[in-house]
Amino acid sequence: MLVPNALEEKKRTGNEVKIRKYEINPDYKTLGIGKSYFVKTYGCQMNVHDSENIRAMLEEMGYKEASNMEDADLILLNTCAIRENAHNKVFGMLGRIKHLKAERPDVMVGLCGCMAQEESVVDEILNRYKWMDFVFGTHNLDRLPDVLHNSILKKKLEVEVYSCEGDLIEDMPVKRDSKYKAWVNIMYGCDKFCTYCIVPFTRGKQRSRRPHDILMEVRRLKEDGYQEVTLLGQNVNAYGKDLGNYDMGDLLRDVAEIGIPRVRFITSHPWDFTDKMIEVIAKYDNIMPYIHLPLQSGSDRILKLMGRRYTKDSYLKLFHKIKDTVPNATITTDIIVGFPGETEKDFQDTLDVVNECQYESAFTFIFSPRVGTPAAKMKDDTSLEEKEDRLHRLNKVVNKYSRKANDKYLNKKVKVLLEGVSLKDDSMLMGYTEEMKLVNVKAPKEMIGKIVPVKITDVKTWSLDGEMI
Ligand code: 5AD
Ligand code: SF4
Repeated sequence: MLVPNALEEKKRTGNEVKIRKYEINPDYKTLGIGKSYFVKTYGCQMNVHDSENIRAMLEEMGYKEASNMEDADLILLNTCAIRENAHNKVFGMLGRIKHLKAERPDVMVGLCGCMAQEESVVDEILNRYKWMDFVFGTHNLDRLPDVLHNSILKKKLEVEVYSCEGDLIEDMPVKRDSKYKAWVNIMYGCDKFCTYCIVPFTRGKQRSRRPHDILMEVRRLKEDGYQEVTLLGQNVNAYGKDLGNYDMGDLLRDVAEIGIPRVRFITSHPWDFTDKMIEVIAKYDNIMPYIHLPLQSGSDRILKLMGRRYTKDSYLKLFHKIKDTVPNATITTDIIVGFPGETEKDFQDTLDVVNECQYESAFTFIFSPRVGTPAAKMKDDTSLEEKEDRLHRLNKVVNKYSRKANDKYLNKKVKVLLEGVSLKDDSMLMGYTEEMKLVNVKAPKEMIGKIVPVKITDVKTWSLDGEMI
């Protein structure tokens, strides 16, 4: 049993990052034959991509994917720890799964992802969820076959969570959700330690993948016919800071030069966004002009308490520099309201920035205290009612600008990568524009997987309708 330790997870020792190659013990390749699995994913794209690796590992072991949880022989929850409600959803789901396990005691139940890295969560599992079968963390994703094997052998809860800063694991197998769009990890972990954020604890220190490994992966994806790659990291602008002489500007340039039709990247931190990056994004037509630039707060006082290392002014300068340099730049954001000590005046500063930037869309959250983070210990005397009122007022403004941003597309021509049948109308297809606008498109099914010209015929707050030209 190896359980997480919050103090260890906080440490940054400066030890060299080790690169591990994925290897499966050949004996484990038959463990899942005749059995099925179901993976439920919570949280960000990093988790979505981890689940693609998890599914491939399970299939290497002989498991087949089940179409629903109720029929599966193995259920794995890949969890998120970013806010309290992510937690609650997972514990709610475990309540449901407990009933399944009571009916079918052979069902194996596991938990991985960011919640597995939390000492308090693993304590709770050990006390109240002993009926579960296995838990593993974000640093040892590649150990899934071993953890599963040990759990089957011992017939009891197997917990293997490392609290180290983290290694790099290469050559992981992957079963991608899409044949057209692919996630590519460029880095793991984060060293920013924003005071509200649990990620530096659950994902460890910043480790950049070697440029050669990333570029090889993108080249292969291009050969396999992929139309789009999204470079993934908690803070992609800091890519390469732990490598030396090669940064995010260099990587974006080299990935674009491979010639895959669409290159995206998430998530950026305003602090590390260099002029070089902006120039590269502006220069290459195949780097999409869509930038997610989390603001979090518009108040300098709150930004300082959050440890964000920029001010309202410097954020706005960067915003306008991107808008002025990158043709058609579409910028979206994340905002937290109700951070400890936030006053109505601080909140008004946030609204000021939203009114100035007129974001195309924004993800908005009420501050959620995370155990072990500095902000969780800060004095917070704003009532939940007041915080909800701020969120409501913010969302009204944000929605107004989302709608306005969409309105300008009416009758315009856009390029859409058609991904599949529309969820709202199965006579239509769906896909995203270069600027990441969701479009439901009238087009023949044979066009799925292609980038096509579309004329926008109708505009909604959250999506556009159009016809292939
Ligand atoms: N409470 C509320 N929102 C949070 N986020 C991160 N941590 C917290 C927290 N403790 C939000 C930030 C981040 C997004 C992914 O989630 O806005 O950009
Ligand atoms: Fe959630 Fe952050 Fe973990 Fe992603 S990295 S799953 S957002 S806690």
